[in-house]
Amino acid sequence: MAGLGILLRLRGLSRRTKIVLLVAIVIFLTLIIGVSVGVTKKNKNSNRIARFEDNYNITWAPDHFSMVNGGELVDIMLDKVSGAGFGSINKYLFGNISMQLKLVANDSAGTVTAYYLSSLTDTRDEFDFEFLGNTSGQPYILQTNVYVNGVGGREQRIFLWFDPTADFHTYSVLWNQHQAIFNVDNVPIRVFRNNTALGVPYAYNQGVGIFSSIWNGDQWATRGGLEKINWTYSPFTASYQGFGVDGCIYTGTADSCLTGKNWWDQDQYQTLTSDQLSKLSWVKQNFTVYNYCTDFARYKPPLPECGSDL
Ligand SMILES: *[C@@H]1O[C@H](CO)[C@@H](O)[C@H](O)[C@H]1NC(C)=O
Ligand SMILES: *[C@@H]1O[C@H](CO)[C@@H](O)[C@H](O)[C@H]1NC(C)=O
Ligand SMILES: *[C@@H]1O[C@H](CO)[C@@H](O)[C@H](O)[C@H]1NC(C)=O
Ligand SMILES: *[C@@H]1O[C@H](CO)[C@@H](O)[C@H](O)[C@H]1NC(C)=O
Ligand SMILES: *[C@@H]1O[C@H](CO)[C@@H](O)[C@H](O)[C@H]1NC(C)=O
Ligand SMILES: *[C@@H]1O[C@H](CO)[C@@H](O)[C@H](O)[C@H]1NC(C)=O
Ligand SMILES: *[C@@H]1O[C@H](CO)[C@@H](O)[C@H](O)[C@H]1NC(C)=O
Repeated sequence: MAGLGILLRLRGLSRRTKIVLLVAIVIFLTLIIGVSVGVTKKNKNSNRIARFEDNYNITWAPDHFSMVNGGELVDIMLDKVSGAGFGSINKYLFGNISMQLKLVANDSAGTVTAYYLSSLTDTRDEFDFEFLGNTSGQPYILQTNVYVNGVGGREQRIFLWFDPTADFHTYSVLWNQHQAIFNVDNVPIRVFRNNTALGVPYAYNQGVGIFSSIWNGDQWATRGGLEKINWTYSPFTASYQGFGVDGCIYTGTADSCLTGKNWWDQDQYQTLTSDQLSKLSWVKQNFTVYNYCTDFARYKPPLPECGSDL
């Protein structure tokens, strides 16, 4: 802007020339500012809706996939020939890892649609969502489980408070060094805390891949295996969107993800807020079908984390 002052003080230029020059400079500056704003916007635009191929690979039955809008939405299918599945290209250690799913509609009895995070190691760490289909009009069950260091056996089952086949809903795990919260549309349905102080191992040193698949689980899934798949309704289709991943990419060592500096590490994510606690208790009271923590025939006494995570 100093340049403008110099220009105005220049002798030997007519008032008219000065005005013309001034206008030219203003136009020039406007263009430059416009272009640089444009670049910023363009960068933002390039933050487009994530597509399947950005973060995921097909791992099972490519011919049972269909990509919509260049992979912004993906359908996977189960028929008599095969189920289908996919997995993330990267592994992650901590983050807010999510997917939007719309489950098999109408008669889905015997089908299982799974969405899970797993290290796939011998000492696997794993967080599971398993959607157990049902006959038409009957409710799905959402089963969750947690494995740490190869040990699972922590099943919980709930009914959902909406029809998961009518629309997309968001299923996510907010996982940091303090807790792993299973959320459904931002309503906590389960928490697995870092209870190392109680001697319970916690998942903190292995990256996990993000996986999903649809398969025939009619040996056990619906009414304990009584309802078999009715292939008249095949193919059974589950739909996915939301392929962005907000997590710390794991490159073989945990250190770079254990800095405590990511947003999900901050204070407000280290324990459940009172709002989250009341939502969690609403879910537990109204929608619980099964909880390993109250299965006293199976675990007597209950596992140590049950006191704090129930
Ligand atoms: C994912 O697919 C790409 C291209 O097909 C391949 O190069 C890569 O190895 C695959 N990654 C995984 C983890 O399977
Ligand atoms: C985690 O991700 C989901 C899906 O994008 C989002 O709805 C939710 O708000 C995120 N959680 C937090 C705490 O930001
Ligand atoms: C489910 O049933 C309804 C009503 O019969 C039908 O309109 C709809 O197309 C069916 N959906 C699927 C995915 O088969
Ligand atoms: C789990 O919590 C304990 C304290 O109880 C802490 O020392 C440890 O660092 C935590 N684990 C991780 C991975 O942060
Ligand atoms: C299916 O519906 C039946 C009858 O309402 C119910 O008992 C069962 O828990 C439902 N879910 C599954 C996965 O079996
Ligand atoms: C499968 O569904 C078809 C069409 O509704 C029905 O006619 C048939 O009885 C069902 N099969 C079984 C084994 O329930
Ligand atoms: C949930 O449970 C609470 C306490 O048992 C009860 O007051 C409330 O009416 C229930 N809500 C629903 C939607 O079932």
